[in-house]
Amino acid sequence: MSFSPDPAPLLAWYDRHRRSLPWRALPGERPDPYRVWLSEVMLQQTTVATVGPRYSDFLSRFPTVKILAAAPWEAVAEAWAGLGYYARARNLHACAKAVVALGGFPRTVEGLRALPGIGAYTAAAVGAIAFNLPAIAVDGNVERVTSRLHAVEDPLPSARPRLAALAERFLASELVRERPSDFVQALFDLGATICTPRNPACVLCPWALQCEGRKAGIAATLPRKTPKAARPTRLGVHFLLTDPAGRLLLRRRPESGLLGGMPEIPGTPWREAAWGEEEAMGFAPLAGPNWRALEGEARHGFTHFELRMRLLVASIPAGEAPEGYFWATPEEARAGLPTAMLRLLELAAEEHEGVPMRPARGRGRPPGRKGAIPPEGHSR
Ligand code: ADE
Repeated sequence: MSFSPDPAPLLAWYDRHRRSLPWRALPGERPDPYRVWLSEVMLQQTTVATVGPRYSDFLSRFPTVKILAAAPWEAVAEAWAGLGYYARARNLHACAKAVVALGGFPRTVEGLRALPGIGAYTAAAVGAIAFNLPAIAVDGNVERVTSRLHAVEDPLPSARPRLAALAERFLASELVRERPSDFVQALFDLGATICTPRNPACVLCPWALQCEGRKAGIAATLPRKTPKAARPTRLGVHFLLTDPAGRLLLRRRPESGLLGGMPEIPGTPWREAAWGEEEAMGFAPLAGPNWRALEGEARHGFTHFELRMRLLVASIPAGEAPEGYFWATPEEARAGLPTAMLRLLELAAEEHEGVPMRPARGRGRPPGRKGAIPPEGHSR
């Protein structure tokens, strides 16, 4: 077995410099597994800085796993809006229900891993942080720290299993097995504050003397990465219909697939080939009104493709929503629509004076986030 660095300096560093984070228990305090799990799911989505306020918001709406499990899906989706993948929110809700059915969070990594939506990373993170189980949660921070400590030059993603195996070796230390919760969080903090992607602060690092990457002078260049293939572009055409009260016509996306079950501004499917005008018009929610194409386009980056959307606008006299659609006030729309759709509202606000939908401030969500999108199938 090749070397594994002594965990003592890292834990001593953590005892002095641990970050104070909203979900983190104070030294000697018992962590709440619900809070730990929630923070880990959110942190897979965005950065610590972004998660902070969203986490506190979510927790004040759903203070316990029981309350989250009992909440209607629409309320969970609304609280999650803007945090990315809705499949995560669905899994979060399903997981909360499973936990309540079990009478609490399982206290083994295997038990946690069996919950809906919990992968190897989350099971290890919750197990170690909340229950002090001997597990190393390997996220991007831990991969970076490990690749530098061991001067691993194989590129990601193929180096991932090797880095996980190297990280696992920390558990051979008795000290780590006594304090896995602190140790895992110390790795996260080291990766976030010292062993940063660019310009790592090696002079401040508790492991500077043991780090093979630093000794070889290559720490800052690790981990290496296989260049990514460019993301393909997909194109869509959307139709924004308003009534005299300023309400917007929306529909709900199919349950399965991207943004499953979320409301959307109706439009064509998203595909790589350009849409001809007549072909796109076949997807308009109503053929009657005088559709006007706006200049410009809205863009949104999904993991696997870059979406570019054109927008047509029209207004109609007051009336019932057509079958399969529903009316939403601008406030309801801003609170419930996924980010890709908010980009269309921003385009409309820039290009189309008559539509009262400019977001309150840049990010597009009013602070109160009142008024949910009506439940599935609802039309009024
Ligand atoms: N990144 C992922 N999980 C984290 C945690 N619990 N604390 C700090 N950073 C993290």
